[in-house]
Amino acid sequence: MTLAARMMELGTETAFEVLAKARALEALGKEIIHLEIGEPDFDTPQHIVEAGVDALRNGFTHYGPTPGLPQLREAIARNSREVRGLDLDPAHVVVTPGAKPIMFYVLLALAEPGVEVIYPNPGFPIYESMIKFTGATPVPMQLLEDKAYHPDLDDLAKKITDRTRLIILNSPENPCGSALTRDELGTIANLAIRRDGLYVMADEIYKDILYTGEHHSIAAFPGMAERTIILDGFSKSYAMTGWRLGYGIMPQELVPHIVKLAVNSVSCAASFSQIAAVAALDGPQDDVQQMVAEFAQRRRLITDGLRAIPGINCPEPEGAFYAFPSIKGTGMSSGEFEERAMSEAGVALLAGSAFGEFGEGYVRLSYANSQENIQKALENLDRFVRSAT
Ligand SMILES: Cc1ncc(COP(=O)(O)O)c(C=O)c1O
Repeated sequence: MTLAARMMELGTETAFEVLAKARALEALGKEIIHLEIGEPDFDTPQHIVEAGVDALRNGFTHYGPTPGLPQLREAIARNSREVRGLDLDPAHVVVTPGAKPIMFYVLLALAEPGVEVIYPNPGFPIYESMIKFTGATPVPMQLLEDKAYHPDLDDLAKKITDRTRLIILNSPENPCGSALTRDELGTIANLAIRRDGLYVMADEIYKDILYTGEHHSIAAFPGMAERTIILDGFSKSYAMTGWRLGYGIMPQELVPHIVKLAVNSVSCAASFSQIAAVAALDGPQDDVQQMVAEFAQRRRLITDGLRAIPGINCPEPEGAFYAFPSIKGTGMSSGEFEERAMSEAGVALLAGSAFGEFGEGYVRLSYANSQENIQKALENLDRFVRSAT
């Protein structure tokens, strides 16, 4: 088969491959603790499930408008006003099946050969994959362990050229767990605003899972609403990964183009999922708070536990539900650590190198698992590392 050349540029997310490997070992009777998965281990809150079931019974089983149901677009605009201080009307909102399509569409709409896109590295692997797929040039913005995985903004300023069309930000960040401060966002906004035609895609999918301080959106800085595409969704905040629902909030002039890409690919997001999402935004937020409180306890447990293992250094995550320790002191590469942690310690985790070139020497552990399992994983990893080094 002769594939289109661009298919050679497309990367992947190794979490799904590692999960398949773990499942194969489990089928042979081996016990594996899953710290590779990037989804909350909680169930979708009951009142959201009820709203989804009611919607199915009430006929939300048909196609809906491509940009999303009006009631959900309104709820998203309202919510964004409350949590981001962004006064934008629902016409700026496009709803998609999961937030990933927003990433895909924005890059298809803005990136092309000759254009440079700056993105966090280590970072969510789909950014680099999609930048390359469009033929644009990926320009990594390194997140530094000694700055608790924040970027060097002087270095970022030097990376912006006349060819830069997009800067991708992800805060709180996957895999590093860092969250950009208000000052950092202000500096980046100043850099972006100075250049005509430079946009920011702010991936804020983990905004509700933050352990210190408040979430700030770069879109709320003066002049930035017209330069920012916010990417957000329901997967993480409301434990709704399987409902496939996300959205973008973007400059009005970009909306018809993103909608055209949606018409050409998915037509619309599932109607009943959208009704459930209105209940998620407008209903009680206690479940979200409880989930974050539980994640906070696990964060303490996993950070302290990893720090006690010889050869491992673990900066404290500020948000999301990932620890991203350096394993350089063990002498193993990320890939070797991933493989041996699975086979020798029964712990599924991801090599940092799956998150870009600057992820080598690190691994990602998701703490979307019970404290009991995390404790057991830490004991197994401690034993494995001590015997291997
Ligand atoms: C940084 C980041 N952005 C976006 C997504 C996509 O989320 P979804 O498509 O499930 O809404 C994920 C999921 O893992 C993520 O980690």
